[in-house]
Amino acid sequence: MEKAKWWKNAVVYQIYPKSFQDSNGDGIGDLQGIIQRLDYIKKLGVNVIWLCPVYCSPMDDGGYDISDYYHIDPMFGTDADMDELIQKADAKGIKILMDLVINHTSDEHEWFQDALKNPDSKYAGYYIFKETEDGNPPNNWRSYFGDAAWTRIDGSNRFYLHAFSKKQPDLNWENEELREEIYRMVNYWLDKGLGGFRIDAICNIKKRLEYGVFQPDGEDGLRYIGDWILNQPGIEVFLKELNERTFRPHNSMTVAEANVPEELLEHFIGEDGFFSMVFDFSYTDIDVPDTGEWFHPKKFTVEELRDNIFKSQKMVQGKGWGAVYLENHDQNRSVNKYIPEEDINYYSKTMLASMFMFLRGTPFIYQGQELGMENIRMDSLEKYDDIATKGHYERALKVGISPEKAFELVVKRSRDNSRTPMQWSTGENAGFSNAKTWLEVNKNYKRINARDQEHCEKSVLRFYRDLVLIRRNSKYSSVIVEGEFVPYYTEDVSIIAYLRILGEKELLVIHNYQSKKGTIKIPDGFKERVLGNRELRNNADGQYCLEPYECIALYREVS
Ligand code: NOJ
Repeated sequence: MEKAKWWKNAVVYQIYPKSFQDSNGDGIGDLQGIIQRLDYIKKLGVNVIWLCPVYCSPMDDGGYDISDYYHIDPMFGTDADMDELIQKADAKGIKILMDLVINHTSDEHEWFQDALKNPDSKYAGYYIFKETEDGNPPNNWRSYFGDAAWTRIDGSNRFYLHAFSKKQPDLNWENEELREEIYRMVNYWLDKGLGGFRIDAICNIKKRLEYGVFQPDGEDGLRYIGDWILNQPGIEVFLKELNERTFRPHNSMTVAEANVPEELLEHFIGEDGFFSMVFDFSYTDIDVPDTGEWFHPKKFTVEELRDNIFKSQKMVQGKGWGAVYLENHDQNRSVNKYIPEEDINYYSKTMLASMFMFLRGTPFIYQGQELGMENIRMDSLEKYDDIATKGHYERALKVGISPEKAFELVVKRSRDNSRTPMQWSTGENAGFSNAKTWLEVNKNYKRINARDQEHCEKSVLRFYRDLVLIRRNSKYSSVIVEGEFVPYYTEDVSIIAYLRILGEKELLVIHNYQSKKGTIKIPDGFKERVLGNRELRNNADGQYCLEPYECIALYREVS
C-alpha cells in the first residue's frame, strides 16, 4: 500500500484519558497512566491511538472546551508527559492522534476573555458577536445541547453564538487572522510527530447567519441550529485551506466527525479529499430521533441496523475511505444499544465485534469495548458529570415528562455510560485508581475486567485480539483492508452477512443476530474457517446451522 495512505492499514484505539488509568492517585486518569498501559494497547495489535482532548480546559464538556491549545491540562500531566507519550508510543510502532477542537473554544480562553472586555479588540473578530436593538437574542436557534444558542453578555445587548454549551463560544472562521492562528497551532502539534487528528464538529465551521424568529420545532419556541451551520456552502474553501496548510504537508491521518451528505462525500474523503476519512452516525445514532432528543428514543430492528450499515458501506466505498466504529465517548455502550438485555453475553458481544471489524474502513475500538464493558446506571442525576445528560434531562422536564421517567430515559443514552473508569482488574476501583474516582466505577468490574479476560481463552478481549491479528495476517490483510464490500444473504432479516472480495480472495462473514438458531447456505469453496465464536460444525449440503449469536468468517480463493 502506498505510504501516502498509511492509515488504511491502521487499527485505532480510542482513549478517554480521564478514565483510562490514574497514575498519581487523584482519581483522574492521566498521560503517565496511558504510558504505563502502552504494552496492553500494543498487545491488542493496534497501531494508532486517538486521545480525547488533553489540552487546558475547565472541563465543562469533557475537554471539548479548550482554554489553551498549546498546553496540557495539569489534571493530565505536563507538556513533557505528552512528548514522552508520543515518543514511547512511536517506539512501539503506535502513532498518536490528538483531538482537534476548532469549531469553538472555551469561554475561558484568553481570546474570548479579551473579546468580552474589549469589543474593539482583534479577538472580538475571532468569535461571532451580535448586538440587537431590542435586547432580544438575534434569533431563536437551539444549540446542540438543548438551550438557546445565543448568550447575552451581562449588562449589554450584545450576544455571542455557541452551537454547544454557553461555555463553548463558536469561532469565526471568516476571520483570516483566526484561521492563521489555528494553522500555526495545528502545525505546532504535527511537528512533534503526531500521526494526525480526530477533528471535532468540523462541519459546523461555516455559518449562514440569519436573524429573526424562525418557525419553532419544539415546545421551547426554539429551532434546531443545524440547518444554518451544518455543511453550509463555502465550507469547502475553509476545509481545503486547512488541509493544504497543515495535514497534507505532514501526510497526517485525519478523521473528521462529520455527517456528510452523499453528494459532498467525495470532496471530504475522495482521492484528494479534505480528510483521510469521516465518521458517519447512521448506525451509531440509529436510536436517536432527528430532533436529537434522547428522551424520545427511537426503536429499531436488526434489519434497519443492517440497512444502515450496508448503506453507509456502499456509499463510502464509492467515494473514498471510511472509518468504522460502534462506540466512542459520545455513545452509550454498544452491547446495551444493539443487544436485548437478556441476550448480552460472550456470544452476542463477540458477534458485534466481528460484524464491525470486518467492514471496509479503518476500525476504531473505544476503550473497554474490547472487554465488552456495559452501561452504568448511577442512582441519581447528581452523580452524572456529562453536560449533555443534564441538558437532555432538563429538556425532558420542560416537555412534561416526569422526573423519574426523564431520568430513566436519559441515563440509558448518557455519554457517561462509556466514560466510566476502565476496568483493569478485580482490585480497588477496578485497578483504575487507588483514590475516589472522578466518576463512579461500574459495579460489574468483578465480572468484566481486563486481567480475568487475559487469562481466559474464551473472552471478548482475546476475540478482539484475534480479529486484529487476522487483519495483520498477510494472507487476509489485503482483502480485509482493500476488498470490495458486498452484501450477502439479505433474505433472512436476522442474519447480517457480507462478502469482502479482492481479486481471487474472498472472505464471507456471517452473523446470526438473534437468540434463536438460524440457517444459511454457504457457497462452495468456503472451506477455510478464519474465525468464529463457536466451534465449526458440519456443514452438510452447504447448509450451515447457526447457533444463537454465532459469528463465523470463512475464506476461499477462486481461480
Ligand atoms: C463532539 C464531541 O465528540 C463531543 O464530546 C463534544 O461534546 C462536542 N463535539 C462539542 O465539542
